[in-house]
Amino acid sequence: MIKVAINGINGKMGKVLSAAVRNQEDMELVCGFDIFDDGNNGCPVYKAPKDCPEKLDVVIDFSHPALFEGVVEYGLSTKTPLVIATTGLSPEQKEKMVEASKEIAVFHSANMSLGVNLLIDLVKQAAQVLYGNFDIEIIEKHHNQKIDAPSGTALMIADEISDSLSDSMQYVYDRHSVRKKREKAEIGIHAVRGGTIVGEHEVLFAGKDEMISITHTATSKEIFATGGVRAARFIASKTCGYYSMKDVISNQ
Ligand SMILES: NC(=O)c1ccc[n+]([C@@H]2O[C@H](COP(=O)([O-])OP(=O)(O)OC[C@H]3O[C@@H](n4cnc5c(N)ncnc54)[C@H](O)[C@@H]3O)[C@@H](O)[C@H]2O)c1
Repeated sequence: MIKVAINGINGKMGKVLSAAVRNQEDMELVCGFDIFDDGNNGCPVYKAPKDCPEKLDVVIDFSHPALFEGVVEYGLSTKTPLVIATTGLSPEQKEKMVEASKEIAVFHSANMSLGVNLLIDLVKQAAQVLYGNFDIEIIEKHHNQKIDAPSGTALMIADEISDSLSDSMQYVYDRHSVRKKREKAEIGIHAVRGGTIVGEHEVLFAGKDEMISITHTATSKEIFATGGVRAARFIASKTCGYYSMKDVISNQ
């Protein structure tokens, strides 16, 4: 049995993930961590990972950047593999995650869905062919409760496109602050917030008289929970290293 704990268990993702973990025959949901306990989790909920008395095989984190340090310290001190899905982490926090992966296994993805990770492969291919003659813009849409903008996924897509091109791409957010024409080596990134949109990411390649748009739409949070479960199973037996969805996909 893989002994799992969820950080942020009372959040929207935490609830969906709890159900997904409970559905796995090879997993046991040992406990959760959260700043409050609604008493409906069917497992102990501790304020912080350091309060957990049991040895865990993996902690899955869908919570808030404010909790990041506590999770990493717990992973390091107990040698517990971590799945980090929380978005909005600072560059310093991302650096800390890479450092930690020298001692423990760390799985990080700003988007746990298989579809978004496939979209990234497709847009990298498209960028190779189209960049130079087509402008690249990313438009992301999320529900009105989301705190960070642009989404971690939009940034992840921009980084992957940028790394695949020889030019150094500049990210331009929303375009309201400067009145000037767009440069070629730019990726425009735009955030829309409203209603209950689970998550949509569109990569638009706009050329002369033609446009290509590649879009991923999430209609339920379950796709992220499924990815979180897959990541947990993948990483639970690893001792150290930094992993992402690419590693899970290439091992399927
Ligand atoms: N990587 C992915 O595929 C993926 C998919 C969906 C969501 N996410 C990310 O997971 C995180 C959680 O998403 P959610 O929709 O469940 O959010 P949510 O706001 O519903 O839940 C956040 C949880 O963190 C807890 N928390 C503890 N300390 C907090 C603090 N200081 N401020 C705010 N919350 C605090 C809250 O109590 C809550 O249980 C977000 O960062 C979100 O962007 C990642």
